[in-house]
Amino acid sequence: MKILGIETSCDETGVAIYDDKQGLIANQLYSQIKLHADYGGVVPELASRDHIRKTVPLIEAALTQANLKASDIDGVAYTAGPGLIGALMVGASIGRSLAYAWGVPAVAVHHMEGHLLAPMLEDNPPAFPFIALLVSGGHTQLIKVTGIGEYALLGESIDDAAGEAFDKTAKLLGLDYPGGAKLSKLAERGNVKRFHFPRPMTDRPGLDFSFSGLKTAAANTINQQKQDLDEQTKADIARAFEDALVDTLLIKSRRALDQTGFNRLVIAGGVSANKTLRGKLTQLMAERKGQVYYPRLEFCTDNGAMIAYAGMIHLKASQFADLAIEVKPRWPLSEL
Ligand code: KG4
Ligand code: ZN
Repeated sequence: MKILGIETSCDETGVAIYDDKQGLIANQLYSQIKLHADYGGVVPELASRDHIRKTVPLIEAALTQANLKASDIDGVAYTAGPGLIGALMVGASIGRSLAYAWGVPAVAVHHMEGHLLAPMLEDNPPAFPFIALLVSGGHTQLIKVTGIGEYALLGESIDDAAGEAFDKTAKLLGLDYPGGAKLSKLAERGNVKRFHFPRPMTDRPGLDFSFSGLKTAAANTINQQKQDLDEQTKADIARAFEDALVDTLLIKSRRALDQTGFNRLVIAGGVSANKTLRGKLTQLMAERKGQVYYPRLEFCTDNGAMIAYAGMIHLKASQFADLAIEVKPRWPLSEL
């Protein structure tokens, strides 16, 4: 069985084909980063228009890459939410229409379930149950995962998401959007001892996060250093910010593991590409004699492969989208 997956929830157009026997057989990605860079963030209307231009050519490229015809496809999966409504509508309209025209089922996929299942595309996939730390531009969540569709939210950010905090702080440091990876690169040259930022909400029980204060701590330090904001000072601030954010994610992940007794940790979403986070969580799980799982780097950020994979699971379980083209800009994972 072969499924086409389409991702258009934000600023990447991703298209992939997944075969339940051969695995991933096509993967195409077009990033809109350059389009939005001048504006310092994603401009929703520009995003929608660019998805309209790129989605169909990428579907054709994916079919060519896998050496398939449209009639070889057994289902079409698309991201139905959460995300930008106009951007979602493009993928949903194209996906739903193709499924109708080809006479195959359409599958509406939850973007965060796509991220959560992305490590399943790797050679050594996690077994259930596990704790998932989902860290992206729009979400920071700890989820207790006991099976497909069994997602209990343990905690989440009450304000900025981890990726959003990275991007906002990067902007304050003069880095282009999206600045998460650039801030992390800058932090490599930073002195760990020069500045220290708080680990928000770690001194009280619970698994929720708050990152807006961390961004403010960075902003205040930048203002205080205004006269001497040289490259080294910027790197030192980036170091302190990344360490504080990563430590906070580590403390809460450890708490979620303690609370559930689980010993497998999955980290997914754009921020799971962060080297410091991967390093520290790998060390944590080694100390606990547990296992940690991440997607390969290109599947941490938004992509079509994770949507095709999640779509295949639902296709096999006969969970299809009805004929109406419906998207959900806000959609709690626990509703699945
Ligand atoms: O999952 P994703 O591609 O999109 C959403 O679903 O939001 O995540 C994008 C986020 C951005 O905020 C980006 O700056 C961040 O992931 N990101 C990183 C790194 N690579 C991507 N943040 C920190 N370190 C990185 N290496
Ligand atoms: Zn995402």
